[in-house]
Amino acid sequence: MTAPEPAAAFEAVDLRRSYQLDGVSVDALRGVDLRIGQGEFVAIVGPSGSGKSTLMHLLGCLDRPTSGVLRVGGVDVATLDDTRLAELRNRTIGFVFQSFHLLARTPALDNVALPLVYRGVPKAERRARATAALRAVGLGHRLGHRPSQMSGGEQQRVAIARALVGDPKVVLADEPTGNLDTRNGEEVMGLLERLNADSGVAVVLVTHEAEVAARARRRIHVRDGLVEADSGGAGR
Ligand SMILES: Nc1ncnc2c1ncn2[C@@H]1O[C@H](COP(=O)(O)OP(=O)(O)OP(=O)(O)O)[C@@H](O)[C@H]1O
Ligand SMILES: [Mg+2]
Repeated sequence: MTAPEPAAAFEAVDLRRSYQLDGVSVDALRGVDLRIGQGEFVAIVGPSGSGKSTLMHLLGCLDRPTSGVLRVGGVDVATLDDTRLAELRNRTIGFVFQSFHLLARTPALDNVALPLVYRGVPKAERRARATAALRAVGLGHRLGHRPSQMSGGEQQRVAIARALVGDPKVVLADEPTGNLDTRNGEEVMGLLERLNADSGVAVVLVTHEAEVAARARRRIHVRDGLVEADSGGAGR
C-alpha cells in the first residue's frame, strides 16, 4: 500500500476577492485556480495591480476570499472562525515583507522571539529557538544588535529568522528583495533557496525582478486578477 499523498500547501478553486471602494466594487481576484504542493519554490509575477498581494494575503490567512474555495494544508478556510484561522496561520505560515516590519529599537533576538510570545512558549525556550533561527540565517554574531544598527540585508535576514522560528510549512514573501541592492538581494535569495532545500519549507514569493523570478522552480503569472500562465512547476 502506498502512503496517502500529503495535502497540498495551498489549493484554490475559483478564488475571488472584491474590494468595495466608494460604492464601487474592485475585483482584485476574478477566479484563481491553483495548487501549490508542500516544499515547492514558487515565484508569483505580474504587473502592478494584478492581484499578487491580494493573493498572498488570502494564502497567508490574513484575509478571506469573497467567494471560491481555499484550502491551506487541506483545511478549507471557510470552515474556520477567526480564532481558528489565526491558529492555522500561526502554525503553518511565516511572513517576510519588502520593508522588513521589524521593531527598530528592539534587539534582533527579541524581534525573532516575538511570534513565540504569542504562542505562550516559555522564555528560555524562546531565547534558544530565536538564537538557533538567527544562526541559521548567518546572524549568530548579531543577536544583540537592533535593526536600526543593521544593514538592509541583515534586517531582511532577521525577518526571515522571525518567519522561521515557529517552524512553518510555508514562507510567504512579498517582494523580499525589493528594498535591497543586488548583492544583498542575492544573499537573501540564496538563503531562501537553502532553507527550502534543507528543511523542505515551501517558499512562495512575489517579485518584480526577472533575475529573482528566474531562480524559482515555478513561476505563476498573474494578470487582471487571473492566473495567466504557470510554468516550470511539478505540483500541478
Ligand atoms: N484594500 C483595498 N481596497 C480597495 N482596493 C484594493 C485594496 N487592496 C488592493 N486593491 C485593488 O486590488 C487590485 C489588486 O491589488 P494588489 O495589491 O493585489 O496588486 P499587486 O499585484 O500586489 O500590485 P503591486 O505589484 O503594485 O504590489 C488593485 O486594483 C488595487 O487597487
Ligand atoms: Mg503588491
